[in-house]
Amino acid sequence: MSYDEIGAARYDDDPEHRLPPEEVETWLAVMTALAGKEGPPARVLDIGAGTGLLTVALKAAGYTVSGLEPSGPMVEQALERNPALQRHELVVGASDDAALFAAGTFDWIVSRQVLCHLVDPHRAFSAWAGWLRPGGRVLLVDGFWRASDWPAHERARQPFAAVQSARPVAEALSSVGFEILRAGPFGELNLARAGLWPGTTPRYLVAARKGTPATDR
Ligand SMILES: C[S@@+](CC[C@H](N)C(=O)[O-])C[C@H]1O[C@@H](n2cnc3c(N)ncnc32)[C@H](O)[C@@H]1O
Repeated sequence: MSYDEIGAARYDDDPEHRLPPEEVETWLAVMTALAGKEGPPARVLDIGAGTGLLTVALKAAGYTVSGLEPSGPMVEQALERNPALQRHELVVGASDDAALFAAGTFDWIVSRQVLCHLVDPHRAFSAWAGWLRPGGRVLLVDGFWRASDWPAHERARQPFAAVQSARPVAEALSSVGFEILRAGPFGELNLARAGLWPGTTPRYLVAARKGTPATDR
């Protein structure tokens, strides 16, 4: 899927893309449960922010948000649709460009429905680990999409495009030094979505923590 101007303008037409308040509640509950000292106004980077659905919801919950998005048209849509978001909060760039942010800039990194697009997860997760402060968390959520949802060439180059388990994502995070806190189907969120859109694709989550020096625990 290319998020050019047309794709960006139509993004929210698809129920699989929408982010209802019931789903936001499940995100916030998991973040609170895993928070330690990183509740609002902790600094959160929303990777693959798209039209800003999650970014603006986290800002409304009191987090200090930044969004990173490779598609310029998606960022324009995000600004147009969400007056609460400011241009400086949204960065156009690649999620595996380690030089984009200074080391330790964020307390949290989150992503929603972006894992399936990653071409080189090891490179991306290494950059994300650098951008987090020691002890910072990631919360990554995506769907158990069917292989038939993808053109063959995208499925071939995107290792998480059609995973049916959270394990490959958890293993990739572990390989760059994250401690896995929770990995598997996102039951609470799936329940919330099923009530709204029967037949919705089940989602999974992987939550993890960047290794910390003993003194920071
Ligand atoms: C399905 S949309 C999800 C958007 C938003 N996170 C949401 O929940 O509505 C996928 C987004 O990931 C972006 N994307 C694609 N490849 C990416 C990559 N390698 N790193 C980060 N974002 C990527 C796309 O431009 C698009 O905005």
